[in-house]
Amino acid sequence: MTSALMSPSTSRLTGKCVLVTGATGGIGLAISELLHASGATVYVTDIDQERAESLAGALGERARFVRLDVTEEAGWAAVAAAMEDAGDRLTTLVNCAGAALRRSIADTTLDDFNRIMELNLVGTFLGIRLAARRMVDHGAIVNISSVNGVLPTAGLGAYVASKSAVSALTRVAALELADRGITVNAVCPGSIDTAITDSADFADTDWDAYVRTIPVGRRGAPVEVAQAVLYLASDESRYVTGTDLVIDGGIAAGRFAGRPRSTQ
Ligand SMILES: NC(=O)c1ccc[n+]([C@@H]2O[C@H](COP(=O)([O-])OP(=O)(O)OC[C@H]3O[C@@H](n4cnc5c(N)ncnc54)[C@H](O)[C@@H]3O)[C@@H](O)[C@H]2O)c1
Repeated sequence: MTSALMSPSTSRLTGKCVLVTGATGGIGLAISELLHASGATVYVTDIDQERAESLAGALGERARFVRLDVTEEAGWAAVAAAMEDAGDRLTTLVNCAGAALRRSIADTTLDDFNRIMELNLVGTFLGIRLAARRMVDHGAIVNISSVNGVLPTAGLGAYVASKSAVSALTRVAALELADRGITVNAVCPGSIDTAITDSADFADTDWDAYVRTIPVGRRGAPVEVAQAVLYLASDESRYVTGTDLVIDGGIAAGRFAGRPRSTQ
């Protein structure tokens, strides 16, 4: 075990077969690149087939692409069939596809609410279910939740509901799959600079003011989330299951109203 912990980073995931959803988005891309560089075979999946194909091409050997809309049950079955045809056995699933909605509860339509729940929660459920049915023993499931799954923000009702449910479902899956050596964990990013906040919903966000509420003093980079996923996907975390690993620059540590002036 000790030698496995000390193995070089390029071989941390050698022999693993990873499926990443939402793989071409800001965080999904960083995860796909890092896990691939760490030796895994990576199934790059996304609703955007063109981007998935191009990413798999750029990664090269050990990368495959499949178009997957995570909300479609049949799509998950098709990915499983594609893996079987290629002789690949799923060891690791990263449920990363997701979207945000910034809207007060009063202004949220039922369609909007359902759309966010369908993508963030139902898509994750379908992935976990596929893994529970097909994953080899001693596998790993990593669900990308959010700091909003543990610390709600006003104006993100549907998102908060979906992500706290993802974190809860993660714990149930961890309990159910522990005897097979399958770990199930959530990674909860804080504010990471990606296209997720590019929509009109976030257009009036004062990012400078927002950053002042982050104890570390900056937004996170996608690769900082990917590093946490790498740990949870590797054999170094075999005894870690059912956790929310928060990667947020200290947002969830407590209410941050700036630092007191130091006299030292
Ligand atoms: N960026 C942040 O600040 C932040 C913070 C906390 C959590 N997250 C979570 O991280 C994950 C990735 O977010 P991101 O910031 O990279 O966003 P992003 O918008 O850059 O990427 C989202 C990806 O999901 C894909 N996608 C959308 N609908 C899909 C569907 N139905 N099926 C399959 N793929 C679909 C998109 O094509 C895109 O590639 C999401 O689950 C998000 O909630 C992001």
